[in-house]
Amino acid sequence: MSHKESVDYRAVTARQKEVWATGDFHEIARQNVVMAEALCATLDPHAGERVLDIACGSGTAALVAARRYCEVTGIDYVPALIERARQRAVAEGLDADFQVADAQALPFADASFDVILSVYGVQFAPDQQRAAAEMLRVCRPGGRVGLATPIPSGWSGDFFATNATYMPPPPGIQPPLRWGTDAGLDELLAAGTSAVVSEERTALQYYRSVEHAVGVFLNYFGPAIRAATASTEDARERFQHDLHAVFSRYNRATDGTAVIENRYLLTVATRV
Ligand SMILES: C[S@@+](CC[C@H](N)C(=O)[O-])C[C@H]1O[C@@H](n2cnc3c(N)ncnc32)[C@H](O)[C@@H]1O
Repeated sequence: MSHKESVDYRAVTARQKEVWATGDFHEIARQNVVMAEALCATLDPHAGERVLDIACGSGTAALVAARRYCEVTGIDYVPALIERARQRAVAEGLDADFQVADAQALPFADASFDVILSVYGVQFAPDQQRAAAEMLRVCRPGGRVGLATPIPSGWSGDFFATNATYMPPPPGIQPPLRWGTDAGLDELLAAGTSAVVSEERTALQYYRSVEHAVGVFLNYFGPAIRAATASTEDARERFQHDLHAVFSRYNRATDGTAVIENRYLLTVATRV
């Protein structure tokens, strides 16, 4: 099936943008610091290197690179998150340029960056081929591309599958989890990169309890809020119950709190 022919990517992108603008992803992003640090440690950008964080949210990974005195740019299509990223940079006295932009149409010249990174970000763009091509276009030859991606098995995959049960994705859209498989990465990146290396990692997410974790997602995570509000009261209760089961399955804590084990894929590719 040709996705290009059957999907109105512009309309899907506009709807998804509203979903991500719902709630406040910054409250969720505190759990992404571990992945952002791991990705930067692996990509190892040095001071002065030009780094782009795609779909940066409130700037978590961009700010890790900015602390290394890199020349950092972060883009996201939700203006409130970009504003929060700017405030965080000011609060920490860090230099970073944050811009509102779509991952599928990056407002940068070819080969503008030495390092590109994205933590659970570019993977959500509906036109995956275009987002991958844009990411590679703005990376200089020999530059590094790094991704932290949810994988089909593990908490993220389970969580997104549960969310999709209550808010099904538009027809013809490839799942973000495609980026978390070797076959998907090959289709999306192989043409413009060499040495695509992926390894599974674990990031722990800490909450007061499983109920607290579910509450945080239902209050702040746009896709979960939208799934809950689109459901009938009965379905909403089932959704809450299912989320509780998902978080419980990956909870390592035995003291009543929640320590959620999140397996994800850390990928590094070199631009040819
Ligand atoms: C799961 S959040 C991760 C945010 C950030 N990378 C982090 O780790 O905190 C996904 C982010 O992708 C952004 N996003 C999704 N699709 C996008 C697109 N096509 N262009 C720009 N941003 C996008 C959302 O607005 C959201 O901030």
